[in-house]
Amino acid sequence: NNYCVIMAGGVGSRFWPLSKQKSPKQFLDILGTGKTLIQMTFERFSSICPAENYYIVTNEQYKDLVLKQLPQLKADQILLEPLMRNTAPCIAYANYKIKQRDANARIIVSPADHLITNETEFVNVINEGLNYVDQTDKLLTLGLKPNRPETGYGYIQVEKKAADLGISKVKTFTEKPNLDLANVFIKSGDFYWNSGIFIWSLSAIDSAFKTYLPDIDNLFSLGTNSLNEASERKFINKIYPECPNISIDYGVLEKSDKVYVFCSDFGWSDLGTWGSLYDKSDKDEAGNAIQGDNVMLYDSENCLINVPKEKLVVVQGIHDYIIVDSQDTLLICKKENEQDIKTFVGDVKVLK
Ligand code: GDD
Ligand code: MG
Repeated sequence: NNYCVIMAGGVGSRFWPLSKQKSPKQFLDILGTGKTLIQMTFERFSSICPAENYYIVTNEQYKDLVLKQLPQLKADQILLEPLMRNTAPCIAYANYKIKQRDANARIIVSPADHLITNETEFVNVINEGLNYVDQTDKLLTLGLKPNRPETGYGYIQVEKKAADLGISKVKTFTEKPNLDLANVFIKSGDFYWNSGIFIWSLSAIDSAFKTYLPDIDNLFSLGTNSLNEASERKFINKIYPECPNISIDYGVLEKSDKVYVFCSDFGWSDLGTWGSLYDKSDKDEAGNAIQGDNVMLYDSENCLINVPKEKLVVVQGIHDYIIVDSQDTLLICKKENEQDIKTFVGDVKVLK
């Protein structure tokens, strides 16, 4: 059977001040569609995976947010982490739960906060991928054509470049290269971005943990199948702090020779920053992307403006800026300097 694991434990600090500790971006309607990113993610897989086969892995402080936004789920489908240990322990926790139900599970692992514009193509790719990994030890990741030397992504070199699209064996996987290396990758033309969306069988990912992340595997092996809810919480709270803090990309994908990549084009953005949201938004003739019902602009170009619906906002003579008003916090930042937002968030914490 198909299972879907949604990783929703990140904080999304570059989307500050909308994204905050209390409501990270996956729980926000950041695109103004009427749905939050985690709701959009859930729906994306609804034709592939029955509601009872989803697991959402997130921090314990977001339990009520998830239940409220995804009322289709039962409380025991929300896997609560006492602290952040990155994506490898998060995936191991989901495996631990799925193992108790279905040894032949096929699993999709997806971030909670990505945008996909061609959902039909995406669903085709996922279905094809699920068939590909069925009964094998292959680890499949979805790859995309890069268009800039982004250093926040994983880069995948394919074994032989038969065609641009389709499934190939991975020759090298490099997580978050520095800018020089990213430029080399882009120029070579053999590299794809890792989307961070994975497809594998339970047995394949399980044996990858045994080989490459035995510490995590050993910790979860201490749990028995028959734990009731309270003792499971106790067990998880005990082992989590002992888990190494490592992403699945560094922990498994960079190391394993069982990794394959499915390169396709389904209109992907990881919505990592305000700039990526700007790129994906509808804009007026002057290139302004506006969220808010009462925004008046004069002689202003290429701005991203995100303000409360009802608030009257007047902007004059502003070019290439991000303006975000989250009721209690106002951010005005030049678009090209948006990476600094992480620093602002750090400084704000110090101030408070
Ligand atoms: N439950 C849980 N616990 N979820 C987590 C944790 C954690 O400790 N840490 C991160 N996540 C969630 C995030 O909320 C996000 O949905 C997903 O896991 C990926 O984590 P990121 O922190 O956003 O990873 P990244 O963007 O630096 O890198 C990954 O994604 C890139 C594409 O967006 C990697 O897979 C890269 O290789 C990839 O290119
Ligand atoms: Mg990310």
